[in-house]
Amino acid sequence: MFGKRLTSTVKPPAASSPGQPGKPPEPPKNAASSPPPAPKPKVSREKLDRFNELKTQLHRKLIDQLDLARMVGDEETLREQVREIVTGLADQENTLLNFTERQRLIAEVLDETFGLGPMEVLLKDPLISDILINGPKQVYIERRGRLELAPIEFRDNAHLMHIIDKIVSAVGRRCDETCPLVDARLKDGSRVNAVIPPLAIDGASVSIRRFGRDPVTWDDYVGWKSVTQEMRDFLEACVKSHLNILIVGGTGSGKTTLLNNLSSFIPPEERIVTIEDAAELQLRQPHIVRLETRPPNIEGKGQITIRDLLINSLRMRPDRIVVGECRGPETLDMLQAMNTGHDGSLTTIHANSTRDAVQRVETMVMMAGFELPVRAIRNQFASAIHLIVQAQRLTGGPRKIVTITEVQGMEGDVITMQDIFSFEQLGINGKGRAHGHFVAHGIRPSFLDRLKASGQSVDSGMFDRQVLMTDEE
Ligand SMILES: Nc1ncnc2c1ncn2[C@@H]1O[C@H](COP(=O)(O)OP(=O)(O)OP(=O)(O)O)[C@@H](O)[C@H]1O
Ligand SMILES: [Mg+2]
Repeated sequence: MFGKRLTSTVKPPAASSPGQPGKPPEPPKNAASSPPPAPKPKVSREKLDRFNELKTQLHRKLIDQLDLARMVGDEETLREQVREIVTGLADQENTLLNFTERQRLIAEVLDETFGLGPMEVLLKDPLISDILINGPKQVYIERRGRLELAPIEFRDNAHLMHIIDKIVSAVGRRCDETCPLVDARLKDGSRVNAVIPPLAIDGASVSIRRFGRDPVTWDDYVGWKSVTQEMRDFLEACVKSHLNILIVGGTGSGKTTLLNNLSSFIPPEERIVTIEDAAELQLRQPHIVRLETRPPNIEGKGQITIRDLLINSLRMRPDRIVVGECRGPETLDMLQAMNTGHDGSLTTIHANSTRDAVQRVETMVMMAGFELPVRAIRNQFASAIHLIVQAQRLTGGPRKIVTITEVQGMEGDVITMQDIFSFEQLGINGKGRAHGHFVAHGIRPSFLDRLKASGQSVDSGMFDRQVLMTDEE
């Protein structure tokens, strides 16, 4: 099989388990400025139920009292007006709440009115990277790479459904019996997926991937030893020289984060078209057109797929096309676009190694029903993709760029590739985290002249066989 004839000799790092629960911390981000984690209320079940009941009553009374026609102003002013009404209503209630509980009651009614109810407190914590809701009474969060139970719950399934409805209707989608699976995003760009009963057996399930106000930057990558400075500089030169780059990795390995960061190297004068299922990319360039797919309507019509958008984008005079993820028939179109003058395009696919990427692409093209011989698909791949970059979540939680591989071309029926840089895992440290070192393999990429011709100078010493950086044990 062609896998045997690949020229690289580099072993992938020891198996990691992306997406597994219970991972130790990622390095903290802005830890100093982050609010303390939501306090876990140490209250009895009955007290909690009474508190929730009171909150519901207050919320109902608030809705009865609100005169929407007379409420004007921006969100801050409205919030103040509503806070006054809620405080008045709370005063009328004959309850034995202490000062803190009363403040919490008012804050939660406001969150219910203006935000996403119980989830608001989690959304305010910038250290939370995932919020996973398994029915109304169980919410998990990932904080610093570790999964933990969150001290919040929803009143019942109807309450959770109401919040889901708020999220998806804000982006013009819906989630009901005819459309029980939905992708959406929050105002801050976080990606949301919801599955509701009867498909989700134990109540609606919501998975939120947060990028939040503080997306991971290149400084973070280098500071957290996710990549070396040399690798970062090399990738910058490759993006600026219009190489086509494929990012690969497993679930939650950091593909989208890497796509975002690679795209940040695209010069501001170029016209970028981004295509995604749920818009997650946060690019800062001035000349950008962001496109998002659309699910079918209630009659099953009107669906717009990644492929439709990709084909359309070719008529939009893009300098660069950035596709969030290729997972179906759009894969072949993406390769063709890269081969036909849209150099410098970037995308990701779900694959567990740079070699696996080729097989994944072959499978996706064949499953899409294109009757192309394998050799033709490989030819397309080899001439379209210049560089493959692999992201991986290693044992214990650290996420790294573990391989940068050049696609050199075809030898007979086989695609030849060379690893230029990679991370070699040497073991697991006392904290249960993988450690190892980044190495350069002594391979000079064949496109060095192209980098030079585009005015990108990289220090060619970085390619000499050497250890570039070691993780502390
Ligand atoms: N190098 C890194 N160090 C620490 N955290 C990271 C790193 N890269 C990404 N992350 C965080 O890991 C989480 C997952 O990242 P991301 O969404 O990019 O993964 P993905 O591979 O695109 O996931 P999916 O397969 O679900 O689309 C995010 O919260 C992101 O902020
Ligand atoms: Mg992603």
